[in-house]
Amino acid sequence: MMTRLVVITYVLSQILIGSAISQNDPDVLDYLTRYGYMEEEEDDGSFASLRSIDPLTKAIKEFQKMAGISVTGEITDETRKWMKMPRCGLSDNVDKSYAGRKKRYVLDDSKWEHTDLTYKLTRSARASLNRSMVEKELQRAFDAISKHTPLTFTPSSNNIVDINILFGDQEHGDCFPFGPGVLAHAFMPPTGDVHFDDEHNFTYHDPDGIELFQVALHEFGHSVGLHHSEVNGSVMAPFFIGYIPSFDLHEDDIAGIQKIYGPRMTGIKPDICQDSTIDAITATKDGKTYVFKGDYYYRLNSNGDDIDPGYPREIYADWEGSTGPVDSVLTLKDGYTYIFKGFKYRRYENMRFVDGPRLIEERFPGIPNDIDAAFVWGGNEKLYFIKGNEYWRCCGDRCDYSVPSPISLWGMRNRIDAVFQWTNGRTYFFQNESYYRYNDDTETVDSGYPKPTGFYWLGC
Ligand SMILES: *[C@@H]1O[C@H](CO)[C@@H](O)[C@H](O)[C@H]1NC(C)=O
Ligand SMILES: *[C@@H]1O[C@H](CO)[C@@H](O)[C@H](O)[C@H]1NC(C)=O
Ligand SMILES: *[C@@H]1O[C@H](CO)[C@@H](O)[C@H](O)[C@H]1NC(C)=O
Ligand SMILES: *[C@@H]1O[C@H](CO)[C@@H](O)[C@H](O)[C@H]1NC(C)=O
Repeated sequence: MMTRLVVITYVLSQILIGSAISQNDPDVLDYLTRYGYMEEEEDDGSFASLRSIDPLTKAIKEFQKMAGISVTGEITDETRKWMKMPRCGLSDNVDKSYAGRKKRYVLDDSKWEHTDLTYKLTRSARASLNRSMVEKELQRAFDAISKHTPLTFTPSSNNIVDINILFGDQEHGDCFPFGPGVLAHAFMPPTGDVHFDDEHNFTYHDPDGIELFQVALHEFGHSVGLHHSEVNGSVMAPFFIGYIPSFDLHEDDIAGIQKIYGPRMTGIKPDICQDSTIDAITATKDGKTYVFKGDYYYRLNSNGDDIDPGYPREIYADWEGSTGPVDSVLTLKDGYTYIFKGFKYRRYENMRFVDGPRLIEERFPGIPNDIDAAFVWGGNEKLYFIKGNEYWRCCGDRCDYSVPSPISLWGMRNRIDAVFQWTNGRTYFFQNESYYRYNDDTETVDSGYPKPTGFYWLGC
């Protein structure tokens, strides 16, 4: 890509020799060069005057089409106005070799080969929005794409992630310094990285501001393989035209990403009776019991022996901000339900989103990432976390038993998938397709266990 950029610049300095407009309008020429309106492949050292169509007029027309203004081929005031519009730093014209292409989305020839993408915010904004706001808005933008494709986007603290996101200034380490008016730029798959220009103040719901969500959603469109679109109102139009409440993917954008990845398969629901291993289970404040497995969740009936009609449903559709598979779900006595995933959690009251994502280490210091289970034990009302063969204990906000104990102390072996206290006050441990009932008085597993989860809880 670096190579390509150099070539364009070089070519233009030659093409424009002898063009009257070029001398008078360096900014316009610079703009048209920068955003790919001049054709690189035609250059072989020949002069512009030998061409059949004046490349500058053609470029201006192309730009006017992209901006949705009158196509005159001349630099009108309106043309200048649109060239001053804050925008994405990526080129607009990718392949002009075929004329008369329909006005619609443009696909890159690259795509992600896996759908469970990870991302990391390596450097957040310096001054505008705080980190938790930025993270929330980024996830909201990713969710807008997940909703229409099989792609999922999960924050990760690993060194290697699919999409690295950072806020930087000018030359920020990728050899593509932000130009004037550029808000952000992104790389096509399989790079996918997104860089925001930190010299702009990104905002949240400020009518006069630069809405981070809108810019992020546009850039993420590039991250998954879309180029700029000429369709008015599409997210992939290159310009930021101001804050738009309820901004979302346009049908043109959706058609584009679904052309690459297909739609989200909502019709095919997994059969939990085929494999009744679960990821998490919790009883929320209102007494409802929910089981989480993969991308889906299930509500149990009040007897806790069957799934309510209408389930499973997709986690992302109802638990705002969360996507499956989750690590663990916990409801505390204060009524808040915590969904844990990776190194973060989100908080809900029943199914209403309250806050997050937040770092586990901030709220529960000493607790590891990627936990398997979390529960409050009726025996002492203390909070426990399980990961692998070990558990950690917390009391209120203090999880000071930073040295974990073996889960064999609970009479358990191997990895536990989920634990919770049901409305009858008993504690249940779920492992593979079975569950154990724990006796809080004798502090042992009740006799007769394990029993099959599918038969006793899920109505299989
Ligand atoms: C693009 O859409 C906006 C509103 O969505 C409208 O105000 C504007 O006139 C449209 N522009 C064109 C060229 O159709
Ligand atoms: C971040 O900013 C939001 C909105 O301004 C505010 O509600 C929130 O408390 C801030 N969070 C932190 C951790 O400062
Ligand atoms: C961004 O905000 C800071 C502090 O509020 C201000 O000093 C700066 O001028 C703003 N920058 C822009 C580009 O608006
Ligand atoms: C649970 O499944 C894992 C692999 O899926 C297996 O290694 C383990 O032995 C199983 N545990 C029990 C108790 O069956």
